[in-house]
Amino acid sequence: PPLGEILSLHDFEAIAREVLPEKAWAYYSSAADDEITLRENHAAYHRVWFRPRILRSVTHVDWSTSILGHASKMPLYITATALGKLGHPDGELNLTRAAAKHGVIQMIPTLASCSFDEIVDAAAPGQVQFLQLYVNSDRAITEKFVRHAERRGVKALFITVDAPQLGRREKDMRMKFEAEDPAEVTDNKVSDKVDRSQGAARAISSFIDTGLDWADIPWFQSITTMPIILKGVQCWEDALLAYDAGLAGVVLSNHGGRQLEFSRSGLETLVEVVAHLKEKRGLTFPNARFQLFVDGGVRRATDVLKAIALGATAVGVGRPFLYAFSSYGQDGVERALQILNDEFEMSMRLLGARSIAEVVPEMVDASSIHQHIVAVP
Ligand code: FNR
Repeated sequence: PPLGEILSLHDFEAIAREVLPEKAWAYYSSAADDEITLRENHAAYHRVWFRPRILRSVTHVDWSTSILGHASKMPLYITATALGKLGHPDGELNLTRAAAKHGVIQMIPTLASCSFDEIVDAAAPGQVQFLQLYVNSDRAITEKFVRHAERRGVKALFITVDAPQLGRREKDMRMKFEAEDPAEVTDNKVSDKVDRSQGAARAISSFIDTGLDWADIPWFQSITTMPIILKGVQCWEDALLAYDAGLAGVVLSNHGGRQLEFSRSGLETLVEVVAHLKEKRGLTFPNARFQLFVDGGVRRATDVLKAIALGATAVGVGRPFLYAFSSYGQDGVERALQILNDEFEMSMRLLGARSIAEVVPEMVDASSIHQHIVAVP
């Protein structure tokens, strides 16, 4: 259907299912085991309800914000998703260019199909990009990559910590990932000894260091001045360790349900982290020094606003943009961002919030999440 008939981010998924090559659909849509975590990521947002305020003169509403000190037109960013060329010949560049038009931040994946430099070169002047890092067991490779990224102007380093081994994504495992596959990662970060017989994820992930440990954090801090954020924190204990280690924040995420099946949604983890970091360190959120991000299952501006109300600085959105560019290229991503933009305008008005600062905890009823969070130690 023409782009004008696409009315929500869900529509992109339905279309992608029809038009994507089998291999791309398998890699993009798959999640671990029985895909229950994948389903629950979005379902968690259904357990939080709004408490809107009325009569607040909402002619002018503004949903722009600041993420790690950088302006963003919306309280969301395009999170890292590998292998963009499986879905579209321009791969990640679709995201870069659409992000520039809409003033949002793109997180560049280590395992992009386009080279890192290509993605940075495609950015508009002043456009902010972050880097998602998979840590190589050969630390010299990782150090070179991180230093290069900083030199090229990347503004923050998100180290993925929830994937020492790739989860079991059976849809993807049934596919073969060929050496000459057009989506092959072009940067020289992947070992030659890859297993291509069981899907894209296996083929590209063999270099990831299973030995990564808290003891390595000071080393990362010694090789870069970029703020460091851990991506894939799933309980308050680890968020507290990250704060105490002097890191700039955490992404509360289960990797879009692709890693450990039955890990909780980022939204539920958020409620727990906010409560415990307040109790243990007196922190209140949103917090400029230690920022909380959430991803997984975000499909509507109302989803985003719930996470913001509960203390997140911003949320990451993954698959919807993959589905959008796979079906429509850059125009699809722009349409997706425009839909979100329109949803923010309406939702902020109906919520009675004129700015992101006015999206406060009192605007949501998260009691059904709180109820089972209080049982957590
Ligand atoms: C991912 N994700 C991911 N994360 C990461 O740190 N490095 C990576 O290379 C990838 N690759 C990747 C590929 C694909 C196809 C998907 C769907 C996801 C996880 C991603 O950053 C994010 O955590 C989730 O995608 C968020 O969930 P939604 O928005 O896709 O529901």
